[in-house]
Amino acid sequence: MADYTNEIKKRRTFAIISHPDAGKTTLTEKLLLYGGAINLAGSVKGKKTAKHAVSDWMEIEKQRGISVTSSVMQFNYDGYCINILDTPGHQDFSEDTYRTLMAADSAVMVIDASKGVEAQTKKLFKVCTMRGIPIFTFINKMDREANDTFELLDEIENVLGIQTCPVNWPIGCGKNFKGVYDRNTNTITKFTAANNGQKAVDRVEVELGSEELDSLIGTELHEKLSEEIELLDGASSEFDIEQVRAGKLTPVFFGSALTNFGVETFLQHFLEMTTSPLPRKAHEGIVDPLKEDFSAFVFKIQANMNKAHRDRIAFMRICSGKFEAGMEVNHVQGGKKMKLLQPQQMMAQERKIVEEAYAGDIIGVFDPGIFSIGDTICMPNMKVEYEGIPTFAPEHFARVRQMDTMKRKQFIKGISQIAQEGAIQIFQEFNTGMEEIIVGVVGVLQFDVLKFRLESEYGVDIRLEPLPYEHIRWIENKDIDVAKLSVTSDTKKIKDLKDNSLLIFTHSWSINTVLDRNEGLVLSEFGRS
Ligand code: G4P
Repeated sequence: MADYTNEIKKRRTFAIISHPDAGKTTLTEKLLLYGGAINLAGSVKGKKTAKHAVSDWMEIEKQRGISVTSSVMQFNYDGYCINILDTPGHQDFSEDTYRTLMAADSAVMVIDASKGVEAQTKKLFKVCTMRGIPIFTFINKMDREANDTFELLDEIENVLGIQTCPVNWPIGCGKNFKGVYDRNTNTITKFTAANNGQKAVDRVEVELGSEELDSLIGTELHEKLSEEIELLDGASSEFDIEQVRAGKLTPVFFGSALTNFGVETFLQHFLEMTTSPLPRKAHEGIVDPLKEDFSAFVFKIQANMNKAHRDRIAFMRICSGKFEAGMEVNHVQGGKKMKLLQPQQMMAQERKIVEEAYAGDIIGVFDPGIFSIGDTICMPNMKVEYEGIPTFAPEHFARVRQMDTMKRKQFIKGISQIAQEGAIQIFQEFNTGMEEIIVGVVGVLQFDVLKFRLESEYGVDIRLEPLPYEHIRWIENKDIDVAKLSVTSDTKKIKDLKDNSLLIFTHSWSINTVLDRNEGLVLSEFGRS
């Protein structure tokens, strides 16, 4: 077998999703610790600074820097080559977060045991299910007071609509947290908060029903555990790897990332259960990752990372074959043959130039302003164009007022470029041109970023007037006369840059009212980029 196929088969590319503060950063650090990518957990990113940045311009810059250096982290563990994709979950939550999930083959969902399923978990989960990728659940912070375990599982099943299958089961929580019971091996891994989780902990294993366990966790907890396991064996879904891979069943693990408890067990099971790079849909059909020819698609563009050079980096996910620095490729949308410049990869905090990379890997390349989100890059002999990336529904809208009308050209250039990177979406009033621009964003921080960047990079001063709309729907009917649609008073008709018609609503209930009033109207939550 060619060496490149082995390289591809050992790749695991996944994203970690969570609501802010559930423990995503902490879990990522601990995973890197096992891979030897960092020596001491606690150095993935300057979290404190990232967290407090709201509208301080310097902080925004810093934050953008941080989200770049940690966009993807690669490390080796137990014969696997692991790529972790970062999905920023804090104030800089944006479309980027969603798009990153387009580049992953599976997702790890971190849930705070005392909070259960939270708002952002739901949003991110929805994108994962849209792609049908496997989802693994890590219920974190068991060293703190936690919700009832059965209730947590019920919540995941009812709120998110995915079946659960606990791989292990917690014994107590908070001060009484004693460890987890492994349902496969029928053994207990005892909780020892050694060294505050800085180093990998040793495992102590004893069997259920043994006297040793009685003395270890006490008769009361031992009895409770036996009852729970009996109940669980009768009630929970059977483990079925096909269901897991179809994204219909989530294996559930319990642990405490901070104290590094349950992390390695999780990692080992996860690596066994998850898949190597998945085939990708292209317009021409499904592309096998083991195909020899290199192909990739752009899922993220980050501009002006270094102000002095005004550089732009396009991040692409390799979908098939092997990439070699200096090779000639075809940029399908641009219709041009080219060499990818300065290909680079992230290793924890460092960026390094790559000589070769394989399907499943993410590389960043220098972008002289030619790539757009969703573009395909492939070997010149290949005929492939990957399916576009959906445009996610913005939830915040503002009207943009330009302060200095003399700078119209710079303004249009700046706002269009920033929109091209996918940080914001721009719309026009229905029936007008570019004179009235409405900006839509997924996370409010993007408004600050837009204002700041227009000022610092394009010398244009703007004022943003917040609009009350929160819901957006693309009109799917091509033959409809939008002017004649009957809408409610809190609904606005707008157009995107590709002249597609849309409706924005203040209240969600107006969506149904508008659908009721206009027979045959078809609305969709996602646009296509
Ligand atoms: P995030 O990336 O999902 O936002 O979460 P992050 O890892 O930053 O964790 C949020 C807070 O929860 C942090 O505390 C972190 O130390 C804590 N935490 C994470 N995992 C566990 C766990 O298993 N048990 C307990 N008890 N706490 C956990 P912080 O005080 O907000 O920040 P820091 O000062 O510790 O950095």
